[in-house]
Amino acid sequence: MTRLIIVGGLVAALLIGGLGPSFAQSPAEIIEQRKDLFQVNRSAMGGMKKVFDSGGELAALVVHAQAIADSAAELPSLFPVGTESGDTKVRPTIWDNTADFEARFAKLRTDALQMLAVVESGDRSGAAMQFRTIGGNCGACHDEYRY
Ligand code: HEC
Repeated sequence: MTRLIIVGGLVAALLIGGLGPSFAQSPAEIIEQRKDLFQVNRSAMGGMKKVFDSGGELAALVVHAQAIADSAAELPSLFPVGTESGDTKVRPTIWDNTADFEARFAKLRTDALQMLAVVESGDRSGAAMQFRTIGGNCGACHDEYRY
C-alpha cells in the first residue's frame, strides 16, 4: 500500500514536472532554469558551427537543431510574471509584448526544425544558410529584450 502511494506520488510529480514550471518553483529557480536552457542553445549553436568549420557530416547538425527546437518550445513558459527581477538580464518590456516575444520563440523553433529538412536534402550551403537564419533569431531577440 505504501508502495502504491509512493508510486502514485512519483507519477503525479512527473506529470506536474512535464507541464513547465511547477507552482513549487520560486522565481529564482525559474530564472535559473531558463538561463540553463539558453546555455543549451549556446552550446548547440557552437556544436553546429564546429560541423561547418571542420567540414563534418551534416547529420551531426540534427542533434543540435533538435535541442534548439525543443528548448524554443519550452522557453515561453519560463517567463511568468514575477521573474522580471533578480539575477536576470530581461527587459521588462517582454511583459508588454508577450505575443511578439512568444512569436520569436515560435520562429526560432520553426527555423531549427527546418534545419532537419535541409540536412535530409544533403544541401551543405543550404544548411550553412539555415544556420545563419537560426542564429539571426538569437541576436534579434537579445537586442530587443535583453540588457
Ligand atoms: C525570444 C527571445 C530570445 C531568443 C529567440 C533567444 N534568446 Fe537568448 N535570451 C533571451 C533573454 C530574454 C535572455 C535573458 C534571460 C535572463 O537573464 O533571465 C537570454 C539569455 C541568453 C543567454 C545567457 C544565459 C545566462 O546564462 O545568463 C544565452 C547564452 C543565450 N540567451 C543564447 C541564445 C541563443 C544561442 C539563441 C538562439 C539559438 C537565443 N539565445 C535565442 C531571449 C532570447
